[in-house]
Amino acid sequence: MHHYKLKLAAFLAWAATVTCRGVPAPSHEAREDCPAGSVNYTQLAKKLSRTAQIYLSGSDAFDAAVARWSNLSTPVANVVVVPSTEHDVVETVNFANWHSLPFLTTNGVHGSITTLGKMIHGIEIHMSQLNSIAIAKNGKTATIGGGVMSKNLTDALWAAGKQTVTGTCECVSYLGPGLGGGHGWLQGRYGLVSDQFVSMNVVLANGNLITVDKNSELFWAMKGAGHNFGIVTSMTSKIYDIQHPNYAMETLIFSGDQVEAVYKVANEQWLTNGKTMPVDLINWSYWYFDPTTDPDKPVIAMYLIQEGVNAVDAAYTKPFLKLGPITTQALSGTYRDLAAWTGISLDATPCQKTGNANPRFPIYLKSYNTTAQGLVYDLFRQATTNASSPFSNSLFMFEGYSQQGVKAIREDASAFAYREDNLLVAPLLTYTPNGPGLDEVASKLGNQIRQILYEGSGETSLNTYVNYAYGDETPLAWYGSDAWRQNRLHALKRNFDPMGKFSFYAPIA
Ligand SMILES: Cc1cc2nc3c(=O)[nH]c(=O)nc-3n(C[C@H](O)[C@H](O)[C@H](O)COP(=O)(O)OP(=O)(O)OC[C@H]3O[C@@H](n4cnc5c(N)ncnc54)[C@H](O)[C@@H]3O)c2cc1C
Ligand SMILES: *[C@@H]1O[C@H](CO)[C@@H](O)[C@H](O)[C@H]1NC(C)=O
Ligand SMILES: *[C@@H]1O[C@H](CO)[C@@H](O)[C@H](O)[C@H]1NC(C)=O
Ligand SMILES: *[C@@H]1O[C@H](CO)[C@@H](O)[C@H](O)[C@H]1NC(C)=O
Ligand SMILES: *[C@@H]1O[C@H](CO)[C@@H](O)[C@H](O)[C@H]1NC(C)=O
Ligand SMILES: *[C@@H]1O[C@H](CO)[C@@H](O)[C@H](O)[C@H]1NC(C)=O
Ligand SMILES: *[C@@H]1O[C@H](CO)[C@@H](O)[C@H](O)[C@H]1NC(C)=O
Repeated sequence: MHHYKLKLAAFLAWAATVTCRGVPAPSHEAREDCPAGSVNYTQLAKKLSRTAQIYLSGSDAFDAAVARWSNLSTPVANVVVVPSTEHDVVETVNFANWHSLPFLTTNGVHGSITTLGKMIHGIEIHMSQLNSIAIAKNGKTATIGGGVMSKNLTDALWAAGKQTVTGTCECVSYLGPGLGGGHGWLQGRYGLVSDQFVSMNVVLANGNLITVDKNSELFWAMKGAGHNFGIVTSMTSKIYDIQHPNYAMETLIFSGDQVEAVYKVANEQWLTNGKTMPVDLINWSYWYFDPTTDPDKPVIAMYLIQEGVNAVDAAYTKPFLKLGPITTQALSGTYRDLAAWTGISLDATPCQKTGNANPRFPIYLKSYNTTAQGLVYDLFRQATTNASSPFSNSLFMFEGYSQQGVKAIREDASAFAYREDNLLVAPLLTYTPNGPGLDEVASKLGNQIRQILYEGSGETSLNTYVNYAYGDETPLAWYGSDAWRQNRLHALKRNFDPMGKFSFYAPIA
């Protein structure tokens, strides 16, 4: 009964708030248009620094801040707070807790897991103003604000002759990927994004600001399950001198008829018989329907990306060239060109907010099962090529990063559970939303494709990347099915977030 009353109170507060309208305004400007009885954000504004912002629902700034990359099962907020100091974050969490309002950290807004849709009111805490980057005098670490984007970090470090592991997409935040592990071009050398973490400043569910590092029990969890535990206002990462500025990429476009042959070669080259991906090579492939190249079926675009060279070694390309690709293209440049070459730079589609739903259905694999590749190709072909299909702009992603740096670190070193795997595979089913019926069709198709890959893998548990997850997977699939992992995460969750304030993104429990 008591519990029910609390819930009701929270609901009434929310119901009153939605009638509030506002324009973007400096935080200290009073907003008398919030009716009495609602949550009064002027009182929060008074506690925040001068350059913090509060956007009330109904304003253009609010609409711009809440728009997301994937328009499927999105979180709903009544207000967006844009802190400009870490103390602003503390005050906002305290205010939200006082008023029993849910809150959610937002950053590069590329998070697309459907569990985010469980947020139906409350405060989005948008990190964009916490964007400082400072390189330490000894040149070995950098302190990075909680709202820094990948490209900004790469550019700032590059200007100083430095680099570190970041996600590959320019418009995704640095920390969004990192908190779930974090894959990037440099992981073959140095490990995951989160393997670089040295310390972090974190605002906990109760509003306390703490610093965590290797001596803190929470540090382990922040490196793979970090979304569940706090708001990172800033963190310190290892950085490195740039060793191999040059990169080359060879793109080979194959007909879908060759799907089994192509992945047989990929396996033979790198993935089976004890072989591993060379540390200087990354190989990705995408499947997509491009009627100008093939009007009947999706193409296979294979990207062979090599560091430290101006042309990809013939030894890497030859086995694939022998299969007879439709076209080949060679590119050369630097590390900073990789995002543009692979279609994830600031001006590319994945950096626009199109209003499309963009669910992915990820699975980690050790190698390709060519039979399974053939089966899922056929499903993907049906889904992308027939005239009545809403999924014709979909993309099937096969990401084969080099792994040495990831595997050099002990399996139990962090909450990221999948160092043993080699490939991150996911269909991305892009479509214009048209109600729950179509969402259901997409979910069925994505899961059907993933199930085939899972059955072909011979694994006994589904391994998924929490940062690509659709949302219907279990915590075992996001964080590893080993009992010790689950127990450790649950114990930490009970200690640090017993009320589940940080449970909109892939909740542990
Ligand atoms: C086009 C594209 C490319 C991608 N490329 C990569 C890649 O190369 N490598 C990779 O590993 N992943 C990649 N991803 C997946 C990416 O890791 C996730 O989508 C991630 O959630 C995006 O973070 P964001 O800050 O952009 O999104 P948001 O939606 O803003 O954040 C996602 C969640 O992260 C948490 N969060 C973000 N910032 C903080 C913070 N400062 N403190 C606490 N919690 C925080 C919140 O729980 C939030 O709900 C890619 C995704 C897309 C769409
Ligand atoms: C909101 O709080 C401010 C500051 O305490 C106060 O001046 C204002 O009257 C309040 N507004 C409403 C509608 O209660
Ligand atoms: C981040 O990079 C973008 C694009 O390059 C730029 O517009 C923006 O000003 C940068 N932000 C900061 C804080 O440097
Ligand atoms: C790419 O690299 C991975 C190694 O990580 C390899 O297994 C795969 O076969 C290669 N080829 C393709 C098409 O992904
Ligand atoms: C998101 O999709 C809904 C339909 O489900 C649509 O009404 C809305 O306009 C879309 N949002 C954006 C930003 O395009
Ligand atoms: C067309 O696409 C839909 C949606 O993926 C699929 O269910 C159907 O089987 C496809 N039809 C044909 C003839 O391939
Ligand atoms: C590959 O996948 C097929 C289809 O699921 C399965 O029958 C086969 O056993 C798998 N092969 C291997 C080597 O696991």
